[in-house]
Amino acid sequence: MTRGRFVALEGGEGAGKSTQARLLCDALAARGLEVVLTREPGGTPLAEQIRSMLLSEGDGPNLRTEALLFAAARADHVARLIEPSLASGKWVVCDRFVDSSRAYQGGGGGLPDEDILTLHRIGSAGLLPDVTLLIEVDPDVAAARTAVRDAAGSDRIGGRDAAYHARVAEAFDRFVENEPDRFARIDGNGSPEQTHASIMSVIEGLEAGSS
Ligand code: TYD
Repeated sequence: MTRGRFVALEGGEGAGKSTQARLLCDALAARGLEVVLTREPGGTPLAEQIRSMLLSEGDGPNLRTEALLFAAARADHVARLIEPSLASGKWVVCDRFVDSSRAYQGGGGGLPDEDILTLHRIGSAGLLPDVTLLIEVDPDVAAARTAVRDAAGSDRIGGRDAAYHARVAEAFDRFVENEPDRFARIDGNGSPEQTHASIMSVIEGLEAGSS
């Protein structure tokens, strides 16, 4: 059995990740591949419970507890859904993964990158996607999109101030510069169709590599 491929989508608020994850899954399924679409935090019943602890309004956990909870949710998600799916030959498309913890709790919150990677090693044996698509949008495009999406209010982390989100964006940018083999930059400023086409050109390379 050939192991499936693991694709993660990353980016800041309003980047269009969820739409692109769906379009990517549809395209892969149309090619006859078995695909699992999932998201973080979440993806399993336990991880979805942790998600509501993390994102509901209120004081919420402190920074270290927050990082531990994201890592715990991820550990359950990897053990119960991601690893078994990959082992049975399915492709997994995940809306956010460990690089979100590195960018938000690390870049945004200030925890050392090494600590986040240590938690990931403990929780999830350090599993990394085959490719991580960083969808990049200009701040004004992102702001216009989140204004529509979050008209009724944003979640506890999405609602943090602009300086926090600027540090998140800088962190993502740094990861791509430092780890170019793991990432592909995707311009997300255009229409969903244009962004999808850019993603498919990266995925074609991955498919070719898997044969
Ligand atoms: P979600 O509703 O999925 O937001 P988005 O549509 O922006 O992806 O909420 C996820 C929020 O959790 C988002 O603000 C990013 C944050 N997050 C972290 O801070 N660390 C993490 O490890 C993950 C996976 C998400």
